[in-house]
Amino acid sequence: HGTSTINAKGHLEIGGCDVTDLKAKYGTPLYIVDEQLVRQRCRQYVEAFRASGLKFQVAYASKAFSVMAMCRLAEQEGMSLDVVSEGELYTALQAGFPAHRIHFHGNNKTPEEIQMAIDAEIGCFVVDNFVELHLLQAIAAENNRKVNILLRVTPGVEAHTHEYISTGQTDSKFGFDIGNGSAFEAVNIAAEQSNLNLLGVHSHIGSQIFEVEGFQLAVERVADFARVINNNLGITFKVVNLGGGFGIRYVDGDTPLAVSDYIKAITDAVKQHFATIGKELPEIWVEPGRSIVGDAGTTLYTVGTSKEIPGVRKYVAVDGGMTDNPRPALYQSKYEAMLANRANDPAEETVSIAGKCCESGDMLIWDVELPKVNTGDLLAVACTGAYNYSMASNYNRIRRPAVVFVKDGQSDLVVKRESLQDIIANDLIPERIAKEPV
Ligand code: LLP
Repeated sequence: HGTSTINAKGHLEIGGCDVTDLKAKYGTPLYIVDEQLVRQRCRQYVEAFRASGLKFQVAYASKAFSVMAMCRLAEQEGMSLDVVSEGELYTALQAGFPAHRIHFHGNNKTPEEIQMAIDAEIGCFVVDNFVELHLLQAIAAENNRKVNILLRVTPGVEAHTHEYISTGQTDSKFGFDIGNGSAFEAVNIAAEQSNLNLLGVHSHIGSQIFEVEGFQLAVERVADFARVINNNLGITFKVVNLGGGFGIRYVDGDTPLAVSDYIKAITDAVKQHFATIGKELPEIWVEPGRSIVGDAGTTLYTVGTSKEIPGVRKYVAVDGGMTDNPRPALYQSKYEAMLANRANDPAEETVSIAGKCCESGDMLIWDVELPKVNTGDLLAVACTGAYNYSMASNYNRIRRPAVVFVKDGQSDLVVKRESLQDIIANDLIPERIAKEPV
């Protein structure tokens, strides 16, 4: 998919770059991002919204992959940006991302983070709970500023990968519950705060969702709530943010919809359910993360050792693992892989791909069909663009890989590979311990 092909040498090529050349230039493990595909995904969202005729913002959820080059690219593609911490905010600001298009999320923003965001004059805070509501009002007042807010509500729709369930009472750490009246109370309080400008509400129902029903139900619940608010408090929501969660295909059997289908379902539901609330339809915001960068990412590994347990299994170990992709260990996520240096060779054996960390749970893929795998082969794992680099760790003091963007035969580093010096950069040996006789 994307710009990936197999070239005449039988090598995987992404963005016109032969991955064996990328290995020679940057080493492995290596995160490779198909820049054209990322841009295409951004454009699909923008185009789908334009077709709807509604006012909109598409905020890239930077948690999926937050680095400065990605922020710049998102800006160029007309995205807004969702950040959830001072680190993501700092990354965006340092990349020159326009602050007024940044939305600040999170269920426990610190006073320092709020101050930083106020200083930067970001576009909107998504307020998660009553403590934050009062804290934000207080800090905004101290700064003599009026800040835009959305209130995060839990619409009682919980979406899982293949189904959604509708619950009366949502048990979640996020947001104000619509069902038990706390969302109503939050709107009431927010509207009275002189330093808060309530734009509307936000709802996020889950991630890696393949169906539109959950989104439609969320729109309906939020519209019902908006009507109650309108009737009782005379407040009309200008903005309704429906979060992210649009699924992608990791393996056969994953059945995501096209971006345009998700957005059409949402915008149609908005037109249907908000038609009789207020004078005009609200502006619709969404926050896709995974579906912007997920399938544009490939991780390239070098095969090292292997171990065959006759009649049981063959383990093939690569030079990365749960440190660069914790998702299989955390969520039992499934991935597909191919031998990138012999991409045309027929499958010959079933192997399981292990990482190099000191624990048995460090497995990337169980039972994948590959050509006969040898030490030194290159293994490419697909769809690692989202929640891989951003969730990578230094467990076992393994250095985090480099990230390259590839496009039209060019490759550019966007994150350098960590050095051994980086690994100890923040370590200190206190004088007291240094002086201790050995
Ligand atoms: N908006 C909010 C408020 C969110 O909490 C999230 C994801 C998104 C947007 C973006 O969702 P997306 O379009 O990427 O599905 N680490 C997990 C995923 C955690 C998602 C958390 N929130 C994983 O690797 O699958």
